[in-house]
Amino acid sequence: MEIYIEKNYNDVSKRASDIITTLLKKRPTAILGLSTGSTPLKLYNNLVGKFKKKEISFKKIKTFNLDEYLSLSPTDENSYRYFMWKNLFSKIDIDVKNTFFPTDFKPNYKNYDKKIKLFGGIDLQILGIGRNGHIAFNEPNAKFSSRTREIFLAKTTIEYNARFFKDTESVPKKAVTMGIKTIMEARQIILIINGENKSKIVYDALFGSVSTKVPASILQRHKNVIVILDKMAAQDFKK
Ligand code: PGA
Repeated sequence: MEIYIEKNYNDVSKRASDIITTLLKKRPTAILGLSTGSTPLKLYNNLVGKFKKKEISFKKIKTFNLDEYLSLSPTDENSYRYFMWKNLFSKIDIDVKNTFFPTDFKPNYKNYDKKIKLFGGIDLQILGIGRNGHIAFNEPNAKFSSRTREIFLAKTTIEYNARFFKDTESVPKKAVTMGIKTIMEARQIILIINGENKSKIVYDALFGSVSTKVPASILQRHKNVIVILDKMAAQDFKK
């Protein structure tokens, strides 16, 4: 596991987008695993900038998103497909036919994993961490052997994500998430984290025991993980 502690969110996003840029230059047909939420916003913005400067093209890539709310239509502004469209896909030269979300495969989610395998597997997975240690929507106590499936969101996740909705009640209770095993099969993972509110869980995930109580702790067993975090998120490292 390589760990980079950056000054701030901008630098976290810059390092992450530089790694993706290098990959896309080397492998224009790369398969990317994408995440949503607040953390990757600047990273996507940087990639759009590099596309506009003609440094990279997304024409031949394929993408698989980590998760999606079960009950929201793709045009709902809180759906993750809409998030990806607004923040990345609409601003680059990607073919939308090459962008995949687990809910597209309802109810045969096994076919999501099959599709990933069919294309040769994920070259690089962008990942964040939830304040409860979740990766994608693999909430605490999810099995390390899990595959893409429907799950119930943890109460902590519903409360945290309520900031995007009218109120807590409006947050969907169910979602579809890539499984932990599916995530672990990615050839490379970039875990990006910023902010003080993640510092405790990041410490537990990276240096605590590997346990389903902290789903992200499984990343300690992956051979090629790059962790990029800001000083605030790394503040517990010294203690
Ligand atoms: P965030 O979400 O980037 O909005 O903090 C991360 C996550 O829940 O994985």
